[in-house]
Amino acid sequence: MVFEMTRKIWVLDTTLRDGEQVPGAKLNLYEKLEIAKQLKKLGVDIIEAGFPASSVGDFNAVKEVATKIGNTDDIMITGLARAVKADIDAVYNSVKYAKRPLIHIVLGTSDIHVEKKFRKSKEQILQIGVEAVKYAKSLLPEVQYSTEDASRSDFEYLWATIEAVVKAGATMINVPDTVGYADPAEFGELIYKLNERLKNLNDKVLLSVHCHNDLGMATANTLAAVKNGADKIECTINGIGERAGNAALEEVVMAMKTRPKVYQGYTKINTKEIMNTSRLVSSLMGLDVQVNKAITGSNAFAHSSGIHQDGLLKSRDAYEIINPKDIGLEDMELVLTARSGRHAVKNALEKLGLNQLNEQQFEEIFAAFLELADAKKEVYNHDLYVIIEKYFAKHDSNVIHYSDNFYELMDLQVISNSIFPSASVKIKKGKQVLKSSAVGTGPIDALYSAIAEISQLDIKLLEYNISSVSRGKEALGKVKIQVEYNGEKYTAKATDTDIMKASALAFINAINSIVVDHMLPANQMIM
Ligand code: KIV
Ligand code: ZN
Repeated sequence: MVFEMTRKIWVLDTTLRDGEQVPGAKLNLYEKLEIAKQLKKLGVDIIEAGFPASSVGDFNAVKEVATKIGNTDDIMITGLARAVKADIDAVYNSVKYAKRPLIHIVLGTSDIHVEKKFRKSKEQILQIGVEAVKYAKSLLPEVQYSTEDASRSDFEYLWATIEAVVKAGATMINVPDTVGYADPAEFGELIYKLNERLKNLNDKVLLSVHCHNDLGMATANTLAAVKNGADKIECTINGIGERAGNAALEEVVMAMKTRPKVYQGYTKINTKEIMNTSRLVSSLMGLDVQVNKAITGSNAFAHSSGIHQDGLLKSRDAYEIINPKDIGLEDMELVLTARSGRHAVKNALEKLGLNQLNEQQFEEIFAAFLELADAKKEVYNHDLYVIIEKYFAKHDSNVIHYSDNFYELMDLQVISNSIFPSASVKIKKGKQVLKSSAVGTGPIDALYSAIAEISQLDIKLLEYNISSVSRGKEALGKVKIQVEYNGEKYTAKATDTDIMKASALAFINAINSIVVDHMLPANQMIM
């Protein structure tokens, strides 16, 4: 079979249905709407907004998404139904408010599902599927039929089901690897064979795939399907979903964009919205993104090895296959750690305006950097200023005291209660010792208000994340925050066994980064 050189691949996002099945990730109506709005901005073709028969709340949420987000021609809205009238009615009555509504029906085709789950004959199940499609088709023109557990189904029975439901009016056939059992070569072959028969039967019907990640192969299986003729892929943001999750939208889409010759397909996803969508889903669902997660993990574009940093500074394509700007990040991140080499440190110093160091000066500064990096894990620009200042103070008495502008935590007290959560902080700025107290809506709000008051900067906290780095009594709390100042975003981290102290240190790191950005270049340090 010959495929067109490059085909449009439809993207159905099921973050709000399969993704929402993750324990603890349940969203209310307003949160669902927020995410749906962002998915539309991202450019998905279809939003699966929920499982309307599961609860009144979900029915209303799907209806609201259909009404408010599905009010244009460029997006379809669907909801899931089992092959029973009540479920199909619930989907119809909630999605019908969209300009382009779709009913999605699921029914198993594997022997395990037919015999053990439904305890019926194959013929009976096939007939139930056909009747369900006929009924859905009497309500709406667009009907998708999912052959649940397709990858473990007998091929001829799977095909007989597909043939029958297409003849009954299904406009999309979705082939799920429900339990993440498939292997890419095997799944690709299955899709190839199904596509050949389907396109001979009715070439208007879209062939779709829906892969789970139980063996870590959801993305690979989805891409194998694309290579073998699938017209549509079903994904979730950050790969969230039942058990080990679903194929991650960002991974499949970026693979197609990065390797167009291999996959010969394109999507209409606006990839610059990927990070915004990932962050929104993660924060509203309360599901952290694994730091090394492909595309959306916080380390996905952060380089810390000296060898890599050196290579990147010489030529970015040495270690970079995706421009971070393509997914909506500002730029790659060169993290200064004890593993960073001379090239990265020199580059960071030059960015601060310190580009006239001779070799001997640089070597001494680099040695001081390594000493600090060993003690501190991550070195920030304000730390570099302090190193530079100490160096020049040793060699030259006429030095501008930049470190007088930086803040250093001396002490803190945080009181958590439901009446007046409050915090007091003692902070050093140069030779000054500054104190402040504040009450807030919670302990972190109180703590950050007290620190912000000392800095006199109008800072908005955009994101606050806390996670444990190790286990047991000695567990370290790692706080990562993002703040906004003057329209610019700053990210900062800190780690400590005391999570309040880690929170304060992260905020102070962010403030010091803001201070650095608003200082004179460091080459004016020596007067
Ligand atoms: O995993 C699955 O089989 C599903 C279907 C409803 C498509 O989620
Ligand atoms: Zn699924």
